[in-house]
Amino acid sequence: MMLPIIITIDGPAGTGKSSAASQLADRLGFDMLDTGAMYRAVALLAVEQQIDPHHESALAIAMDRATLDVDFSSRPPTILLDKRDVRDRIRDADVTSIVSLIASHHEVRVRLVKAQRQVALQHERLVTEGRDQGSVVFPDATVRVWLDARPEVRAHRRTEELRARGQRVDEKRVLAEIIERDASDRARAEGPLKQPIGSVSIDTSDLSFQNVVHELERLVRAKLHDSNVGCGCGGSA
Ligand code: DC
Repeated sequence: MMLPIIITIDGPAGTGKSSAASQLADRLGFDMLDTGAMYRAVALLAVEQQIDPHHESALAIAMDRATLDVDFSSRPPTILLDKRDVRDRIRDADVTSIVSLIASHHEVRVRLVKAQRQVALQHERLVTEGRDQGSVVFPDATVRVWLDARPEVRAHRRTEELRARGQRVDEKRVLAEIIERDASDRARAEGPLKQPIGSVSIDTSDLSFQNVVHELERLVRAKLHDSNVGCGCGGSA
């Protein structure tokens, strides 16, 4: 029997976590879970049902009535809210502006942490990215990585990403929002944004995207080799 292999990638917004996790998963032949997309889907639920994002119990009730699924048949996987593909809608400004508040609620976090562990039971080769994957959700993961970058670099990347999607954005404003969202993600009591003890840290500020992916792959393969874990990973570093 092959043991499950979980790779966690955590870090603040704009470090390129999602794209790097997705490419890493492709190179290893693993599945990928974007847990930020799950929090965003709950924020969208609040927007659509006009629930006050401060109202924790109303959010919990709405979550229990809704279905939130990850469709692994596409790469990267798609987030489905009540069976609807919401992958683009969850990136809109109205969702982004409340998601950090939504993610601060205990009732929201317990439900999503449970859902994430459930995903891991069904996908035994998994790269999962977010803020608390290595610290709270999977503290015993095979490899735990912390990705970081200077705030200005992260704001620039986010701005380019949004512009590529046709949105008009002011980089200074993006920087202010990133700083504000990080502060709020760091300050919350539960699952705060924080480097997990014992994780490997990579500062991506001065690395190209391909170098980040390469470094991640090298790290994971070395760790699997050292711990003698057979992973059946595709390709080679
Ligand atoms: O990575 P992202 O920007 O899509 O994340 C959206 C929000 O969700 C962000 O404010 C942090 C929060 N989040 C979280 O609290 N825990 C996670 N595991 C993933 C995201």
